[in-house]
Amino acid sequence: MDYLNYINPGIESINPYEPGKSIEEVMEKYNLKEIVKLASNENSLGPSPKVLKVINNFKDIHLYPDGDGIRLKSKISEIESINSDQIILGNGSNEILEIISQTFLSPNTESIFSKHAFVVYKLASKVRGSKFHEVNAHQWGHDLNGFLEKINDKTRLIFIANPNNPTGTYLSHENTLEFLNKVPKKVLVVIDLAYFEYVTAADYIKTHEILDKFPNVIFTKSFSKIHGLSALRIGYGFGNETLIEIMNRVRQPFNVNSVAQKAAIESLSDQEYLKESINQNTKERLYLYKSLESMSVDYIPSQGNFICIDTKSSGKEIFESLMKKGVIVRPIDLYEMPTHIRVTIGNRTENNIFLEKFNEVLYKG
Ligand SMILES: Cc1ncc(COP(=O)(O)O)c(C=O)c1O
Repeated sequence: MDYLNYINPGIESINPYEPGKSIEEVMEKYNLKEIVKLASNENSLGPSPKVLKVINNFKDIHLYPDGDGIRLKSKISEIESINSDQIILGNGSNEILEIISQTFLSPNTESIFSKHAFVVYKLASKVRGSKFHEVNAHQWGHDLNGFLEKINDKTRLIFIANPNNPTGTYLSHENTLEFLNKVPKKVLVVIDLAYFEYVTAADYIKTHEILDKFPNVIFTKSFSKIHGLSALRIGYGFGNETLIEIMNRVRQPFNVNSVAQKAAIESLSDQEYLKESINQNTKERLYLYKSLESMSVDYIPSQGNFICIDTKSSGKEIFESLMKKGVIVRPIDLYEMPTHIRVTIGNRTENNIFLEKFNEVLYKG
């Protein structure tokens, strides 16, 4: 096993990504009949019924997918009002983050992101042996001035999640523009929009304006959240066409499967369904805020489909107790938020079950 002494630098310090617990795993372990899963920011409405119809009729599993994703890119270009060659498809937006890191990070380079930001930025940097700066958060959100202070000659990538997972905080258009104007053009800024559909803040970023002004910005979007296609693994990035062309050299030839491509096209076409999902989330987010306030429980106001709740005790223990009662949430000690839990916003029934069990755990042990 001497070869284990030669793994790439950075990898030895990685803790593997811990996904939310699966329903089957928890049912079996605690002998439960019903589970409410509010752990991975999935859409509780599931995918659009139109998507399910397309998937159920899909037969061509013996054929390779369209490696260029031409039809899906054409649909995305229509929706984003950009050219197809400004788009790269990924096996989840996670793969886009990986491709960006693979393209720009190596042991002699640096990346910057916020403390309490999506963990994949750190993982992707570590795997490439690159140095990273985790900037202290400001009121749980990204401190962009702190980011600027960390930029040096070795900086290649800045990761910004807007809204951020797990905190649910967001950055305004004005603050983002002010920041981008100060970032040297040789640094690529990745703006991760996995949850942008859920944002209701009026001063949220306008991607077009940013794209037109800053060729050193790439946006990523996901089909795993509001589109309800997490299991199919599909997402995309969009930005400057030269950048996208270079990233496409790194991308695996058939990285996005045919079922996912078809489902994504159908989902983008079903705007009614997306609106319904947004409305449910906006309504239920307010409902959870009010309910938590009536329980005198602190939370971080969120622009996403999840809320971080301060349990004022061990988030991990609260998570364990809730799991035994059939509610799966997410402990976030990994994000250096040991007293918080992250709860996905579900439908009214799911939210009420969570609130009831959470109340029991908090006050009755
Ligand atoms: C902020 C953020 N970005 C990206 C992703 C990756 O999503 P996916 O690879 O499923 O598109 C997630 C998933 O939780 C996320 O929270």
